[in-house]
Amino acid sequence: MWDRLLIDCHVATMDPTVAGPFGAIENGAIGIQDGRIVRVGRRTELAGYQAQSVEKLDGAWVTPGLVDCHTHLVFAGNRANEFEARLEGATYEEIAAAGGGILSTVRATRQASEAELAEASRPRLKALMAGGVTTLEIKSGYGLDVDAELRMLRAAGALGASERVRVARTLLALHALPPEFAERRHEFVELACGTMIPAAAREGLAEAVDAFCEGIGFTADEVDALFEAAAAHGLRVKLHAEQLSNLHGAKLAAEHHALSADHLEHLDEAGAATMAEAGMVAVLLPGAFYALKETRKPPVDLLRRHNVPMAVATDCNPGTSPVTSPTLMMSMACTLFGLTPEEALAGMTREGARALGLQDEIGTVTAGKAADLCVWRVERPAELCYWIGMPGPERRIVAGVDA
Ligand code: NIG
Ligand code: FE
Repeated sequence: MWDRLLIDCHVATMDPTVAGPFGAIENGAIGIQDGRIVRVGRRTELAGYQAQSVEKLDGAWVTPGLVDCHTHLVFAGNRANEFEARLEGATYEEIAAAGGGILSTVRATRQASEAELAEASRPRLKALMAGGVTTLEIKSGYGLDVDAELRMLRAAGALGASERVRVARTLLALHALPPEFAERRHEFVELACGTMIPAAAREGLAEAVDAFCEGIGFTADEVDALFEAAAAHGLRVKLHAEQLSNLHGAKLAAEHHALSADHLEHLDEAGAATMAEAGMVAVLLPGAFYALKETRKPPVDLLRRHNVPMAVATDCNPGTSPVTSPTLMMSMACTLFGLTPEEALAGMTREGARALGLQDEIGTVTAGKAADLCVWRVERPAELCYWIGMPGPERRIVAGVDA
């Protein structure tokens, strides 16, 4: 006897071993026991099974819960003033060079307590959840000193513990150079490698380490040192790479067996090839592309040709991607970057999970995985990408429980 049996539904399993678009099973059924999917198949195949609760979904589509694998959700303040300045012609790099940009959020974040950070960020988390997110990654990176970085990670943990959502945490140790280290870059990198990483690892506050490899961020050599330290402390790595220029960050990330390289507008063929060899995920972030009015798109055809899995994420952050809608990102991934709706949905489910190293646990509707599901009142899965600003799923299920 299972806990739950969902019937009268269609299932976009997103499982590549299920033939056909979206791995779809029409007239399907899903058995759930102890928070996990125990069986998924056609209703007729599951006819003999019983459950405490048999629920008819009136022909709705069920997908994996959405996985937002790249966010900077925790921060204080906002940067609507910079939005106005950019509309008047200032560029992101000019604003950063004048002490605004990331550093303006750093000033606000350093002044906030852990509880203040969590409460300032909770409405954004609720919005993502309402949009269908059941797992998200949250990065630090607006503290840029040991205490404030750890405080951000603790706030992210507190959010995950108090809401029905899974949170994966990333120490974004090299995001921007704080002003007090302006003349001492090397010492800041040493602080990140020698103090921030060991502290985050010791306290179990992060699973991965990230950096911003860019002209206005950090050099490949600095990132290399950071990634060495991450490996020494048992943390995975990932990288903001090739967003505004090509510093060959994707190749560097591949050399360190990174989970993903993210943004990638300026990725070249050699970079795509090394990502494929390293089994990395390309995380596409159409919100930042849109908000910065970029014209150079990530090389989607190249990624397809090299069989690099593509994830799609919100990059929810106060500067370049003030986005709280996962389905809007799926829509933009199709319209701006040329993904198919199936690729976009895979990007926010299966490949998002892979980008977090959680592909065995979540990301597809497959027996054995956690029962993280969304129930959508749509006639076909492509509608999730077609509607612009659609309301979220009718139901969200996390570990087998309606959330
Ligand atoms: O992913 N590129 C660096 N980090 C963020 C932007 C953060 C910010 O501007 O506050 C990004 O786009
Ligand atoms: Fe980012």
